[in-house]
Amino acid sequence: MTYESSASAFRHLLEARRSIRSFLPTRVPDSMIASVLQDAQCAPSNCNTQPWHVHVVSGSSRDRLSQALLAAEAAGRMSLDFSFSANDVHGIYGERLREQGAAYYQALGISREALAERRAASLRNLEFFGAPHAAFLFMPVFGDAVRVAGDIGMYGQTFLLSLAAHGLGGVPQTVLGMYADTIREELGVDPSLKLLFGISFGYPDATSAAAAYRIEKVPFEDSVVFHN
Ligand SMILES: Cc1cc2nc3c(=O)[nH]c(=O)nc-3n(C[C@H](O)[C@H](O)[C@H](O)COP(=O)(O)O)c2cc1C
Repeated sequence: MTYESSASAFRHLLEARRSIRSFLPTRVPDSMIASVLQDAQCAPSNCNTQPWHVHVVSGSSRDRLSQALLAAEAAGRMSLDFSFSANDVHGIYGERLREQGAAYYQALGISREALAERRAASLRNLEFFGAPHAAFLFMPVFGDAVRVAGDIGMYGQTFLLSLAAHGLGGVPQTVLGMYADTIREELGVDPSLKLLFGISFGYPDATSAAAAYRIEKVPFEDSVVFHN
């Protein structure tokens, strides 16, 4: 394969990947999930520590976990291993955060004032947006955990790109990380492993309103400074 054709195939794959928030109920064959996990395992990490511990739920385990998450939410039992508040996201980053939320709700036809509908749309996170599978990315903590979290990000993006290469889709979800204790209890995960985020995945449902939504990225010149 020439450099041009592999770069063009890669660009195509990057454009094919986007966060999918509507799925067909069809289960992904175990062999295809194994193929995605094998790809994700190629991710780079600090000193090759490979700190990811991944739990994948499907079938009745997936359904039980979703019920437990909805019950935890209803009872106000949130438990974050790593803090997150939209109010902390300042300046241009906060603007992008708000634009993203507004564009998504607009695609779903939900107005700014329709608070109950917004809440229902947000709760879909805990139903894995209808995906038949979800992967949970746990990590050990060394030092301030920032470098380990970076490694988990590397793993997550490799996983997401592999999903796209297999004709699948997924969405990384910090919201799932807001119920870390519930997920650890349900899956029997050691308390020393912390949950950064989950990824719901499966076959995208191209017919849903959520599928019509695509968020733009700023030009790379806005993010990069060249020193020649
Ligand atoms: C670490 C991480 C956590 C995220 N958490 C959520 C989430 O909880 N719920 C959600 O709907 N989307 C979540 N997203 C998806 C982002 O909104 C999405 O990546 C962003 O808007 C860019 O869109 P794209 O993925 O389609 O390129 C998350 C993305 C990342 C990388």
